[in-house]
Amino acid sequence: MIAPGTNAVVTGGSSGIGAATAELLARRGCSVLVVGRDADALGDVAHRTGGRACVADLTDPAAADQVLAEAGPVDVLVCNAGLGWAGPLEAMPADTLEKLVQVNLLAPARLVRAALPGMVARGRGHLVFVSSIAGSMNVAHEAVYSATKAGLDALAGSVRGELAGRGVGVSVVVPGVVDTPFFARRGVPYVRRRPRPVPAERVARALVRAVERDRAEVFVPGWLRLPARLRGIAPVLTDALQRRFG
Ligand SMILES: NC(=O)c1ccc[n+]([C@@H]2O[C@H](COP(=O)([O-])OP(=O)(O)OC[C@H]3O[C@@H](n4cnc5c(N)ncnc54)[C@H](OP(=O)(O)O)[C@@H]3O)[C@@H](O)[C@H]2O)c1
Repeated sequence: MIAPGTNAVVTGGSSGIGAATAELLARRGCSVLVVGRDADALGDVAHRTGGRACVADLTDPAAADQVLAEAGPVDVLVCNAGLGWAGPLEAMPADTLEKLVQVNLLAPARLVRAALPGMVARGRGHLVFVSSIAGSMNVAHEAVYSATKAGLDALAGSVRGELAGRGVGVSVVVPGVVDTPFFARRGVPYVRRRPRPVPAERVARALVRAVERDRAEVFVPGWLRLPARLRGIAPVLTDALQRRFG
């Protein structure tokens, strides 16, 4: 359900996957509201997309109502904003732990809670959650990040159950490694040779396709579905393989 005039909100629209998604949605004729804290970067994306910028810190519980008030009736809500942190859990600063949970998990739940009554009343809408392969696997040294993304998957799946037959679709986008400022921001670069990072535009294309085709879950790249499914049926084996080869 993407047509000219569709009212879309993209959190984390100032950078990376969110900015690429905003640009693609705008090319499909959507009116896009990009959300983030960086007013200059948001302004650039809004200018490029002919859309609007909403400066909001998603750690703030009041941000969801602010976003909805600025957006108006939302047709497509893309919960994409997120941040990571790498290292052993005992070394993780307490405020960073809080922030990860607030931005990656609480903010999407608050935004969906605020947007859903309107979508359900209109009998149409689409929710998109940008998760991570880290939410489908257990990732050592990314414990809280993995937990927030696993929580996001559960949130999406549960809400999908609540919305069955009510005209509102739910898609989860599960990227592997994406070439964005994400790693620089978390302070630990991505150094492995494989899997190779994919461009943010590839994730954006998969995301828009998922909305258009009402897909419940898309992996980017697609082969990541295999380890995720293997973990579902053989968690102990998968964890052991990850420790050995991960
Ligand atoms: N890059 C990867 O390899 C990868 C892999 C799997 C999943 N993902 C997920 O993809 C999503 C997008 O990440 P990305 O790779 O595009 O990274 P990115 O370029 O660092 O973008 C992160 C976005 O989140 C926003 N954000 C962070 N904290 C915020 C806060 N407190 N309030 C409002 N906005 C906030 C940032 O906006 P401001 O700076 O303007 O606040 C920025 O637009 C995240 O959920 C991430 O977990 C990324």
